[in-house]
Amino acid sequence: MTDIDGNAVAADIRSGVAECVETLQAEGVDPALATVLMSDDPASETYVSMKQNDCEEVGIDGIHVDVDDDAPAEELYDTIDELNADDGVHGILVQLPVPDHVDTERVLRSIDPAKDVDGFHPENVGRLVGGNARFKPCTPHGIQRLLAAADVDPEGKEAVVVGRSDIVGKPIANLLFGRGPGGNATTTVCHSRTDDLASHTRRADIVVAAAGIPEFITADMVSEGTTVIDVGINRVERDGESTLVGDVDYEAVSEKAGAITPVPGGVGPMTRAMLLYNTVKAAAEQHDVDVDLP
Ligand code: GUN
Repeated sequence: MTDIDGNAVAADIRSGVAECVETLQAEGVDPALATVLMSDDPASETYVSMKQNDCEEVGIDGIHVDVDDDAPAEELYDTIDELNADDGVHGILVQLPVPDHVDTERVLRSIDPAKDVDGFHPENVGRLVGGNARFKPCTPHGIQRLLAAADVDPEGKEAVVVGRSDIVGKPIANLLFGRGPGGNATTTVCHSRTDDLASHTRRADIVVAAAGIPEFITADMVSEGTTVIDVGINRVERDGESTLVGDVDYEAVSEKAGAITPVPGGVGPMTRAMLLYNTVKAAAEQHDVDVDLP
């Protein structure tokens, strides 16, 4: 079994992104990412501050806007309008989820598609589905890169995605069955209503576990040699202590898997690296600068 080292692959991407930042700066462009947080959820606060630290590490300007979680929704919509209009801001990320009184669809629709580094705007979703992605969403793109780093070419293989979220399940399925490098797999999307889930995962060459359920994928559900990508980040209580586990029972599944991503240290760092990638891509396209994307 091979552990797929997301920290190492992400470090390579970050160093390639840092070179793109230098190219942009030499052309007078300071790439900038704006993160917007309208939540007091500690996990969301942590994710956003990690994204800001990542920006700093590669030389991207990080701009952060906090919107009070009980402020009127208009305050968030106005913030997005201002960031859209600011030529010095190249990427905009509104951390999800937003409070219930805010219309998530409206938030995603109001971000300028050219600055939509999450790839969640309907125009960008449409382009991805059409096989002409502008910004591949960060987690699915990171998964594609992890498979490539592990020398697992999805072409012709059986890929089974467990989970149908807009952020991971739907886009990774599209990338896996889509044409081109990192695609061409025969792809099945399973979810909470799938009958006999194990019958699908057992015939898979590649399993992407993205259901958001702790240790949902157990050893009896995968075949020998399968590549297992674990997207889950679940905080659970173990022996009186809080710990992070994925959607895969790592201890048992790693005995059978050909290659597997650990949690933490697998998909998570890749999601963050691909956000930096999308930010320099956005800055380069907005200023018509050629960069050598990693
Ligand atoms: N919340 C959880 N994952 C994500 C993500 O990838 N992007 C944004 N904007 N919010 C999230």
